[in-house]
Amino acid sequence: SRQFRIAPSILSANFAKLGQEVTDVIASGTDIIHFDVMDNHYVPNLTIGPLVCESLRPVTNAFIDVHLMVKPVDRIIPDFAKAGANMITFHPEASEHIDRTLALIKESGCKAGLVFNPATSLSYLDHVMDKLDMILLMSVNPGFGGQKFIPETLNKIRAVRQRIDASGRDIWLEVDGGVKVDNIAEVARAGADTFVAGSAIFGAAKDTDPNRYDTVVAAM
Ligand code: DX5
Ligand code: ZN
Repeated sequence: SRQFRIAPSILSANFAKLGQEVTDVIASGTDIIHFDVMDNHYVPNLTIGPLVCESLRPVTNAFIDVHLMVKPVDRIIPDFAKAGANMITFHPEASEHIDRTLALIKESGCKAGLVFNPATSLSYLDHVMDKLDMILLMSVNPGFGGQKFIPETLNKIRAVRQRIDASGRDIWLEVDGGVKVDNIAEVARAGADTFVAGSAIFGAAKDTDPNRYDTVVAAM
C-alpha cells in the first residue's frame, strides 16, 4: 500500500513567525515542508531563497522539499543544498540541460524531481525516469497560493501513476495547487501520494494555539 504525505506550503504561512509556523504545522501531523521559491522572472511573484531555508534548518528535523520556480535553475542548486534542502525540484522548461540539472542536484546530496505545469508535456519524463525521486504535478499555474484546482490534472495524475508503476521505482507523486479537504481523496484515488496544501492549512487558523492546525490536518 502507498505511503501518503502531507506537505504544507509555507507560502501561505505567517512569515513574521515562520519558525513557529513550521514547528506547529509539523506537530499537527504533517510530513514534509514544501518550500516555494519564486523569482519574478520564471513566475510573476517573488518569495524566499536559500537564506530562509538555512534559517529554518536548525528549527526542524522535517524533510524540506524545495520547489524551484526560477530560471536559470543550476546556479542556485548548491546554495539550497548547503542551506539544508532535502529535495530539490525544478521545471524542465526552465533548464537548458535537464539531465545535467538532475545530476547537479544528486551530486549536491539532495533528492531530485521534475515539475510539470498544467500544460507541460509529460514527454520530459522519457529519458530521465531512472534519475527521479519525485514527480510534481502542478494543479494550478505556478506563481500564487490560493488558486482553484484544475480538474484536467486528474487525468495527468493517472498517466504519471501508470508510468511510475511501470518503472518499478519508488518515485513520489506530488500534486501542488488547490488541494483541500474536500478534493484530497479524489487526488489520492487518481494516484498521488504526496499532497501540497498551502491556503487549506495555513488559512484554517489565525490564532496562536500551537494545536491550531490539528483539525484541518486530521481531516486530510
Ligand atoms: C504555487 C505553489 C504552491 C502553492 C499552493 O505556485 O507552487 O505550492 O503555494 O498553494 P495552495 O495550496 O493555496 O493552492
Ligand atoms: Zn509549490
